[in-house]
Amino acid sequence: MGSRSALWRSGTLFSFRGPSTCNPIRPMSKRLLRTLGPEQLKGRRVLVRADLNVPLAGGVVTDDTRIRASLPTLEHLTSHGSAVILMSHLGRPKGGVDPTFSLAPVADRLQELLEVPVRFVPDTVGDAADAAVAGLRDGEVLLLENTRFLPGETANEEALARRLASYGSVYVNDAFGTAHRAHASTAGIAEAVKENGGVAVAGFLLERELAFLGDALARPDRPYLAIMGGAKISGKIDVVEALLPQVDRLLIGGAMANTFFLALGLEVGGSLVEDDRVEMARALMDRAGERLVLPVDCRVSERISGDATSRAVSRAEVAPTDIIGDIGPETESLYRELIQEARTVLWNGPMGVFELEPFASGTLAVARAVADRTDQGAVSVVGGGDSAAAAEAAGVSGRLTHISTGGGASLEFLSGAELPGVAVLSDEEG
Ligand code: 3PG
Repeated sequence: MGSRSALWRSGTLFSFRGPSTCNPIRPMSKRLLRTLGPEQLKGRRVLVRADLNVPLAGGVVTDDTRIRASLPTLEHLTSHGSAVILMSHLGRPKGGVDPTFSLAPVADRLQELLEVPVRFVPDTVGDAADAAVAGLRDGEVLLLENTRFLPGETANEEALARRLASYGSVYVNDAFGTAHRAHASTAGIAEAVKENGGVAVAGFLLERELAFLGDALARPDRPYLAIMGGAKISGKIDVVEALLPQVDRLLIGGAMANTFFLALGLEVGGSLVEDDRVEMARALMDRAGERLVLPVDCRVSERISGDATSRAVSRAEVAPTDIIGDIGPETESLYRELIQEARTVLWNGPMGVFELEPFASGTLAVARAVADRTDQGAVSVVGGGDSAAAAEAAGVSGRLTHISTGGGASLEFLSGAELPGVAVLSDEEG
């Protein structure tokens, strides 16, 4: 874990595109929250966009990871005497009020975690929100209602962006998970704050995400190994394309591997495949040569369910009635050996249907191997979503260098795309 701190000390962010296009000596970089002095925070109204899009069940937050991840920025601001106006979306309401997607339960959980008063207003930019902002005291947090209750949010409507911007003179984007969206509360608002003479900066979480997914992977300690899993090549092809020229090894797992098996002319039975991506898989194998590593065996069954009985077979012995649900034990050993040689590991996507016990072994084995290697000094970066859940299920989350809070955002960033929510922030002075 010692590798974390050096990245923090550099003071500026150089990567607001993903690593494939990142130029580490590019002079332009983005302003960071931690470069703002106390006089720029004390007594100021500070707008914070966080990604508090968390799962709810029965009006209660069932996974508060993203709320916890936003705490360092909120604690910094409240302890420096700022009045914080906090914004987020939750779910995908259709541009109208839908109580199922209210942020009220998030405010309750945040209040428990933050230990400073957290107010909630069931309004985003109307009279009630105006009044709540006017009544907010320094050191307090006000959470506005779901930004996606307003149609102007996803349309990045200028009028909405300006209205939100009128609530503060400093804008902090800490919503890495939503940084790939050009919405009013992630992009337009930053423009509006800057036009008003204010500053738009990256919060601690956003900084951390960009440092690990960007800078750390743009200048990796080698060998640099990436593990890509999940169901489809099509959803990850841009990332795979971007990573291939950079990595020393690319290990493939999950149903994505089945399409490569088809390209090798192997039987895949009733497994999930993308027939229209077979050519692409073949071309990737040709280009990558030995750097691309496929499973040598798999766990199969006649059905994929929690009470199925799985058996391990070589990848050449899959029967027409089989469905591949996981990598096999020989692949687990092979991948473990390769992970043991790496000094930088990027992991995105499970190796099988890990939510079901008969097909969980491969993903958990990879999670443990990455954690063991991290204990020995390697840097490990885990893309969000399923792999974060897999790391949690394997009980190794605390042993990995960085687990991203962004699913779609981390994939876009790793594929080299510019993140609109970052590109729009103030440039570092000088
Ligand atoms: C996510 O969960 O990936 C982010 O909160 C973005 O949500 P969205 O895909 O609905 O924009």
